[in-house]
Amino acid sequence: MCGCCDSYCCQRFCEWLRDGCILFTIAVVAIVVTGIVLIIVIFGGPLRKIKIAVEDASLTRFDLLTDPTTRLAYNLTLTMSVRNPNWAIGIKHDEPLEAAYSFDGQQFDRVQVADEGDKQGARKTVVYRLVTNSEGRGIALGNAGEAEFKKEKEDGVFEVEVKLTGKFKYQLRKTKCEFEATCPVKMQVSPPGAQAVVFQRVDCELSKSDDQYCKMVY
Ligand SMILES: *[C@@H]1O[C@H](CO)[C@@H](O)[C@H](O)[C@H]1NC(C)=O
Repeated sequence: MCGCCDSYCCQRFCEWLRDGCILFTIAVVAIVVTGIVLIIVIFGGPLRKIKIAVEDASLTRFDLLTDPTTRLAYNLTLTMSVRNPNWAIGIKHDEPLEAAYSFDGQQFDRVQVADEGDKQGARKTVVYRLVTNSEGRGIALGNAGEAEFKKEKEDGVFEVEVKLTGKFKYQLRKTKCEFEATCPVKMQVSPPGAQAVVFQRVDCELSKSDDQYCKMVY
């Protein structure tokens, strides 16, 4: 068979061929197994919750006007972050992402945070800066709410609840995820020019359904 070489050479050649063959087979099996595991994880593995936080907030004005109607006048700026911790799956907003602001349970403003169709890649954090100013926006506080406002004004700390709502689609998946996150934000008024108040980051709490953080819709 190995006409041109002595038996030793021939034997080495055959061994080399056999070892190479084994290595090659191991490599192919490893690649195939890794591929299958990846496909299972990406298309059927657990999805991690998005993480939402208020990174910074500034309030340069927060006044209650009562004449002729009850209104809030404010200059409020929030920096919010949305993090997608999934390592392989991006998200795409299926409905605009919105933030609603309330004082003492009464909503007084609503802002659009991200547009429908906006995408956020895997492992990415997107930071949104939301600026809302009003010279007087109607709010139904009632005298209970007005009393709460006076109390918080005396304490020097206003509590504003920010509720972020949205619906997004996990890419490579069929499901859409409808969520609601609430962030209790405590702020001190610091007029322009005054020294900025140090803000403690607030982690928002995701709420919806019992076991999942979002309502899965198909
Ligand atoms: C609030 O915002 C308005 C409109 O942008 C601006 O004219 C005003 O100076 C601001 N007031 C304060 C106290 O930041």
